[in-house]
Amino acid sequence: MKIVMLGAPGAGKGTQADMIADMFSIPHISTGDIFRENIKNGTELGAKAKGYMDKGELVPDELVCDLVVDRIQQDDCVKGYILDGFPRTIPQANALEEALKAIGQKLDYAIDIEVPDENIISRMSGRRSCTGCNAVYHVVYNPPKTEGICDKCGGKLVLRDDDKPETVKNRLNVYHEQTQPLIDFYKGTGVLHEVDGTQTMEKVFADIKNVIGA
Ligand code: AP5
Repeated sequence: MKIVMLGAPGAGKGTQADMIADMFSIPHISTGDIFRENIKNGTELGAKAKGYMDKGELVPDELVCDLVVDRIQQDDCVKGYILDGFPRTIPQANALEEALKAIGQKLDYAIDIEVPDENIISRMSGRRSCTGCNAVYHVVYNPPKTEGICDKCGGKLVLRDDDKPETVKNRLNVYHEQTQPLIDFYKGTGVLHEVDGTQTMEKVFADIKNVIGA
């Protein structure tokens, strides 16, 4: 099962990708998490990515494509994977198609979680992310059992640097300009499915399960 999650920043891609990954025991590959991990570990890739991420811009394609193409060929991806945050541009989508073709694979589903811009800013200001395991919470819609502490690993929960309202506005602009064209791209390849992301997390998950026949 090879799935790409599409949708604006804060649409719920990571939340749903985690639930699908648990259900099918396949990896959830988030390029945002990979970059944040690299920033935390002080790597060269992290240093390059940070400047773009803090401004709400996309990291250049050449820093992302090889990394993902390499990741999806690792042993734990043999049963499939969920890509969250990649591809994000048409060149990234083309790089993925070419890589899949070269290894005789194809995508099964591109799931677009639709949430209007006006809902996004409030969602992002309430998001809390775990500094230990990257689990995602929301102070209202999905609070942890103990405020500020991750239920899964006991790590500290923080507001992401790029979740400040000014940065979120820029991320939304970047999404509409560079990432939304992927919806037509995947319509064209026949794998696109749209889901209403304004519903509860459980209802969104139920709709996704319907799409993938789970
Ligand atoms: P990335 O980490 O991928 O961020 P994003 O795409 O902007 O998405 P988010 O993680 O912000 O949101 P999400 O859709 O996963 O929502 P979530 O489930 O957390 O990328 C960050 C940056 O890295 C980019 O800006 C760029 O700089 C760089 N980058 C990454 N990939 C790249 C690439 N391929 N190319 C170039 N640059 C790249 O949910 C959001 C909140 O809402 C949470 O609090 C959650 O609990 C809550 N929530 C979720 N669902 C619901 C619901 N149904 N109802 C109510 N609340 C909900």
